Amino acid sequence: MKVSIIGGGAWGTTLAQALADNNNEVLIRDINEEFVSKINNMHVHPSFDLTIPYLIKATTSLEEVINFSDVLVLCVPTKVMRSVLVEINNILTSPKLFINVSKGIEPETSYRVSEIVAETIKKEMLKGYVVLSGPSHAEELIFRKFTSLVSASLDEENAKFVQHLFSNEEYLRVYTSSDVIGVEAGGAIKNAIAVVSGVASGMGLGENARAALISRGMRETVQIVEALGGSKETAFGLSGLGDLIVTASSMNSRNFQTGLRIGQGQSVSEALANSKQTVEGIRTIEAAYKIGQKYKLNLPIINTAYELINGRITIDEAVKILLSRKLKAE
Ligand SMILES: NC(=O)c1ccc[n+]([C@@H]2O[C@H](COP(=O)([O-])OP(=O)(O)OC[C@H]3O[C@@H](n4cnc5c(N)ncnc54)[C@H](O)[C@@H]3O)[C@@H](O)[C@H]2O)c1
Repeated sequence: MKVSIIGGGAWGTTLAQALADNNNEVLIRDINEEFVSKINNMHVHPSFDLTIPYLIKATTSLEEVINFSDVLVLCVPTKVMRSVLVEINNILTSPKLFINVSKGIEPETSYRVSEIVAETIKKEMLKGYVVLSGPSHAEELIFRKFTSLVSASLDEENAKFVQHLFSNEEYLRVYTSSDVIGVEAGGAIKNAIAVVSGVASGMGLGENARAALISRGMRETVQIVEALGGSKETAFGLSGLGDLIVTASSMNSRNFQTGLRIGQGQSVSEALANSKQTVEGIRTIEAAYKIGQKYKLNLPIINTAYELINGRITIDEAVKILLSRKLKAE
């Protein structure tokens, strides 16, 4: 079948390869003309310079990609998601299935992508919504290394449709879920914790500290997921704990790397400027902080990270704040 992808960076073009391996025709829309030309003329992945299947084509035209198929995969940074969806809504003339693979929460509204879609896309143009998430570095999937994802939708048929669209017996296994909130929130919050874990590593704290931050960070993730209406079980699944494990200690993670540079003394803007690709974690720290305030959650790691990225405390003060908290039961 035909599938449209909006955003052809590291993840979008890697997923395009998985779809092409399953004999789907894929058209990617990216605003970067150089990326589009690389895909069309050289058949290489724009982020990794590796050969990709001929079934993948690209365009800079939003209209063309929307008219290409009834299945739209959203893979732009969450920062531009709302404006892209508004543009899409203005062009749509027939209903589409929206599959979101971006991981983030809009800090201004605390909205997850499903909520932004519901607010921007006319009801009659929305055939359904699925979030596809889980522990997945594009750097590995592009080499067809084994990966598991979860496809979550309120509509079981849509979740299963996406499961079958992406799964293959060689390297990609997709599970289904009905917990859209849990999958979206878990996949987003882990990026915030990954930044914090990177900061700790950059400061030269050891693996003991990193393990403590990851597991205590997981508790904060669960609180946020549950406050938003998702389930604890989902938070401990592929899109929460699974993604946290793969992100919070890997040099393949840009969120971890950005934290690492902050831990080594760079400012947040310097650390972000040093990443050519999307880093969702910094904005997610802000979103998680706001959710914590709204629901009166106990989020010491997120709150301290928020103060740190806003320049209100130094790294040494951040560590002191976390270590000097009143002793309590686990
Ligand atoms: N890289 C991964 O391993 C990975 C894995 C899972 C999920 N994700 C998520 O996928 C999302 C995208 O990440 P990425 O790694 O592909 O980032 P990236 O920076 O490599 O790619 C983003 C792409 O979006 C394009 N873009 C920006 N504005 C656009 C617009 N208006 N229309 C069309 N394209 C536009 C950019 O030109 C760029 O090519 C993020 O939310 C990320 O968390 C990434």
